[in-house]
Amino acid sequence: MIRYFLLLGFFFLSHTITAQTTQILLDEDQVTTTINKHIYGHFAEHLGRNIYNGFFVGDTSSIPNTAGVRNDIINALKELNIPNLRWPGGCFADTYHWKDGIGPKGKRPKIVNTWWGGVTEDNSFGTHDFLNLCETLGAAPYLSGNVGSGTVQELADWVQYTNFKGTSPMSDLRRENGRDEPWSVKFWGIGNEAWGCGGNMRPEYYADIYRTFATFMSDADVEGGLYKIASGASNDDYNWTEVLMKNIPLNMLQGVALHHYSVIDWKDKGPDVNFTEEHYFNTMSEAWLMDELITKHVAIMDKYDPEQKVDLIVDEWGGWYNVQEGTNPGFLYQQNTMRDAMIAGVTLNIFNNHAERVQMANLAQTVNVLQAVILTEEEKMILTPTYHVMHMYKDHMGAELIPASLSSPTYAFKDRTLPAISVSASKNEKGEGLASLVNIAYDETHVVTLDLGNSDFKSVTATILTSQNIQDHNDFKVPNRIKPVPLQDVKIKKGKIEVGLPPYSVVVLKLK
Ligand code: AHR
Repeated sequence: MIRYFLLLGFFFLSHTITAQTTQILLDEDQVTTTINKHIYGHFAEHLGRNIYNGFFVGDTSSIPNTAGVRNDIINALKELNIPNLRWPGGCFADTYHWKDGIGPKGKRPKIVNTWWGGVTEDNSFGTHDFLNLCETLGAAPYLSGNVGSGTVQELADWVQYTNFKGTSPMSDLRRENGRDEPWSVKFWGIGNEAWGCGGNMRPEYYADIYRTFATFMSDADVEGGLYKIASGASNDDYNWTEVLMKNIPLNMLQGVALHHYSVIDWKDKGPDVNFTEEHYFNTMSEAWLMDELITKHVAIMDKYDPEQKVDLIVDEWGGWYNVQEGTNPGFLYQQNTMRDAMIAGVTLNIFNNHAERVQMANLAQTVNVLQAVILTEEEKMILTPTYHVMHMYKDHMGAELIPASLSSPTYAFKDRTLPAISVSASKNEKGEGLASLVNIAYDETHVVTLDLGNSDFKSVTATILTSQNIQDHNDFKVPNRIKPVPLQDVKIKKGKIEVGLPPYSVVVLKLK
C-alpha cells in the first residue's frame, strides 16, 4: 500500500495535472437499457497454448485439475463470473469436425492445426470437455460451427448431439459417451470470418449459405430457440453487414458479428512490451475506433431492422502485437501491459454505452493468446492487467446503463488527438452504482467531477489500476506488479465526486 501511495505521489509530481476539471454528468432519468452480461464474454480457440498447455493439462497432470482443466484457471474465471465462452475458434472452427473430438480419447484422430502453427491436434479436448467446463464455470457455451469445410448435416448433428433429450442417433451417441442430459446450447455461430479464413466467400454467397445451415439447426430443444449468429464484418466492411441484413430473413437471425482488433499495422504489429508512445497512440486510436464501427454497423442494421430485433455481437476484439520473441509465430503469444488495460477499459465502456444493440462480445483470447486475461508457464499462472479491468468492471453485467455525458479533454500525439477520458456508468438491481473511468493520456493527470444528477447515492468507494510505466506488466517473477488498489479520500460532496485520474489509469467508483 505504501508503495502505491508513493506511486501516486510520483504521478502527481512527475506528470502534468490539467488545470480544468472535466465535468461528467450521470443522467439516471434517462435509464432505458440493460447492459447484457454477455458483453463480458471470452473466447478460447484451439490456438497456441490456449487450450493445450493452457486451460487443459490432462487429468494425469501434476497441476491440480478438474477433468484435465487447471483448477487455478477455473477459479480465476469463476471470480470474473464469465458469462459465456466461445469455442473452438476462430479460424480453427471452420476446419473442425466435432465428431473427431468425442468418444475414447485414445481413439480420436490426430489432425493438423493448419491455421495455427501446423501442430498436431490430438482432439483430446472436445465437445464434452468444453461443455462440461462451461457448466463448471457457470458460463453459457457459444459454439462456432464449421461452415467452411463442414456440411449442413454435420452442424445439424452437432445441435442434436448437444441439445436433444429424447432418442435419436446423435443423443444416443452422446449417452454412449457418458452424458445423459443434453447441455442445451443456445449460442451458435454459423461459421467464422466467412470473408477470410472461413472460406473467402462473397457476402451474397455467405448469406445464402447461412440460410441453408440455419434451416437445418433444430430450435426445438432450447427454450426460446437457438440464438444464431452470422459471421460478421471485419472492421469497416459495411457492405458485408448491408448484404447480410438485406438477404437473411430477420426471423432466421438473432445476431450479426463484428470483428475488430486494435492492430497498428497487419504487416508489423509492433512489440508487445517495448513499444513507443507512437505505437501506444496508434493502438489507442484503434481501440477508440470501435465506437465508430459500432455506430456505423448499427445504422446499417437499423435500415433493415428498425425494430432492432437482431443484435450486434462483437465476438472477437482486443490488442494484437507481434508475438513475443522466441515463441512460435503461429501461437500468438504476447505479454499484456498497462496498454492492454487501456484497451479493455475503453472498449468495455464503449460496449456498455452501446448496450442497446451490442448484446455480446468476446475478448480474444482467454489464456496465453493475444489479449489474454491469464498467462501460464508450466505450473505457474498470472493474472494480467486486462483481467483486473474485467474484474473491476464486472458489476456492470446485467445492470441498467446510466447515460454519461462529457466533453473529454484530448490526448494529443504530434498533430493527432484522441479523447483522453472514457466513462460508462450503471445501476444494479440492488440500487448500487458503478462508474468506470479511464484516462489514456500518456503524461497528463485529468481531474474529473462526476455530477450524480438526480441519483440518490450516499457513499462512494474507489479502486484504481495504474502503474509507473505504460509498458509495465505482470510476469512470472513479479506476478502482482499491477493490481487494483483502493483509492482513498474520494467522497460525495453536494451530489458530486471529484477524482484525479493519473495517466493510463482505470478508476472504478462503487456507489451506494
Ligand atoms: O483470434 C485469432 C484469429 O483472429 C481468429 O482465429 C480469427 O477469427 C481472427 O482472424
